[in-house]
Amino acid sequence: MRICRTIASLRRALSAPIPGRGRVGFVPTMGFLHEGHLSLVRASRRENDLTVVSIFVNPSQFAPGEDLRRYPRDPRRDAAALRREGVDILFIPGDAEMYPKTFRTWVDVTELDDKLCGRTRPGHFRGVATVVLKLFHLVRPQRAYFGMKDAQQGLVIRQMIRDLDLSVRLRVLPIVRDADGLALSSRNVYLSAEERVAALALPKALRRARRLIEGGERDARALRAAMRAEISLQPLLAIDYIAVVRLDDLEETAQIEPGNTLVAVAVRAGRTRLIDNYLSGEIKC
Ligand code: PAJ
Repeated sequence: MRICRTIASLRRALSAPIPGRGRVGFVPTMGFLHEGHLSLVRASRRENDLTVVSIFVNPSQFAPGEDLRRYPRDPRRDAAALRREGVDILFIPGDAEMYPKTFRTWVDVTELDDKLCGRTRPGHFRGVATVVLKLFHLVRPQRAYFGMKDAQQGLVIRQMIRDLDLSVRLRVLPIVRDADGLALSSRNVYLSAEERVAALALPKALRRARRLIEGGERDARALRAAMRAEISLQPLLAIDYIAVVRLDDLEETAQIEPGNTLVAVAVRAGRTRLIDNYLSGEIKC
């Protein structure tokens, strides 16, 4: 595995002939890797001739007061895991490499960026879209791999790919969970033992939502109430939002349309923000 810390060295590594049919798969991450990240890496390895992974804790997607400084990092362990998975290139730039002092260009994916997580994290998706576009431009992958865990992020990236006619295929893969149902997240290490138990209300509420939809429930309000009842049982969790939205535009809907519905939840457990969702439909382009 080649480890590139600068844009110049990444460009050099990518200028060498690519084996097979020359297909490049790309997995952008912020590191502190878990099985969710590795599921994306494995898919890229299966479907491409060369796999590039980036690790960059992107400052521009953290609002002031968020957890940028304490975001968990372990680049050595990450590099060892990626080497074991057979990754070809690891791009792990520093902040100044990605955002020199003169940096002034930002990507806004309007209307998708101010809903759900965008409401409590203003500027977050601008930071995500900007860094992902920059990384796409550097790596020039045929396919890019994202997790359904961050469904809104997947939709923002899909919109950017469509609007800017990027020639990258988006693959959004299922949420990987711990044995007890909690969605894997680098941020789970922040949780106390009690918060970790309380957090199971998220997958539980979403399983309930799924059963209700599969059983024919079409009233979004009833679905939200059922989930709120489940999560409110946990005093350690403060609800940020419980949303039932259309998948294509993230607009709240009164009537659930199976195949075009995202049920998304965000809560706070102490200082830790947790998200999870159930998707009836697909994100791809
Ligand atoms: P990060 O949180 O490190 O996640 C990297 C990728 O892994 C994202 O596409 C995310 O959706 C996916 N992922 C995280 N947890 C997952 C899980 N439990 N199951 C499946 N996939 C999971 O998302 C980011 O980084 C950043 O915003 C980034 C796209 C790298 C831009 O900075």
